[in-house]
Amino acid sequence: MKVSHGFAVFALLSFLLFSGCGTKKESGAAEPEEAEKNQPLFTIGMSQCNLGEPWRVQMNLDIKNEAEKHPEISVIYKDAQNDSLKQRSQIEEYVNAGVDLIIVSPKEAAPLTPPVAAAFERGIPVIVLDRRVLGDKYTCFIGADNVKIGKAAGRWIVERLGRKGRIVELKGLMTSTPGQDRHSGFREGIKGSDCAIIFEADMKWLEPDARKEMESALARFRDIDLVYAHNDPGAHGAYLAAKAAGREKDIVFVGIDALPHEGQVYVKQGVLQASFEYPTGGKEAIQTALKILNGEDVPKEITLRSRVYTRDNVDQGGEWLDEEGEE
Ligand code: FRU
Repeated sequence: MKVSHGFAVFALLSFLLFSGCGTKKESGAAEPEEAEKNQPLFTIGMSQCNLGEPWRVQMNLDIKNEAEKHPEISVIYKDAQNDSLKQRSQIEEYVNAGVDLIIVSPKEAAPLTPPVAAAFERGIPVIVLDRRVLGDKYTCFIGADNVKIGKAAGRWIVERLGRKGRIVELKGLMTSTPGQDRHSGFREGIKGSDCAIIFEADMKWLEPDARKEMESALARFRDIDLVYAHNDPGAHGAYLAAKAAGREKDIVFVGIDALPHEGQVYVKQGVLQASFEYPTGGKEAIQTALKILNGEDVPKEITLRSRVYTRDNVDQGGEWLDEEGEE
């Protein structure tokens, strides 16, 4: 009896020592070896809709920089190369591989909704970043408020043009939610003024497409006062088209994203007159992922703030949207 009792105590102690029961946060006798301590406990699968644009490269970098602070997680990256079907399979692959959490920045809302919902229903937490899916079958959405940004851009433009002008709107991919929201917010923002949209086109977030669309606008209209593009690559493409036609000085260019090494530089150079910040949310995605993986509750929606950058404020770090134009 005595022997088996002693054995039971020994077995229990061994279990406590070696089963990982003393987790990383608890200190005590069972300090794991250095190598073991740095072993990732959780794998995160990240599906990025494309890496062809600087903003998306920045998002992955923001994720990487934050993830590196936490040795208990490792992040795997997949680039869907702007192909919704490819992105669907990537999410399915992550589910089959048994990752602990998925971060997805979807190309388009509708095609990515079923695989995200399926992963979520299988019990894998999913953080949707920047562009939305439909419905509510995901764990958390992180992004800035694109309706608000569009509205602020509209108001800024009305003021800049003295309430009257001829505008070209170059829209982001209209099957993605930021394109829809930046459009509807903008229309709301210019309401009641004499600003008219004389030309609008879907440039799918891409600079070469924006340039082509702007060439058509320039060919059709002799007077264009302003271009509102849903992102800075779009605004820059439009600027290049106008420059090639010798008309860039007659037109005001406004974009969205305001990356320090892209939109903010265009503002400093006078290529764009304003750029509205669209934060990538990469850092917040990792911080939220850690909370989820540690069993904490997170909100269904995390809304990031945004700033406007103009020539007057770019050197002072822009101006927060919340502090201006709120009703
Ligand atoms: C990059 C991008 C950004 C834009 C965001 C919207 O792919 O087009 O320029 O702000 O996506 O989802």
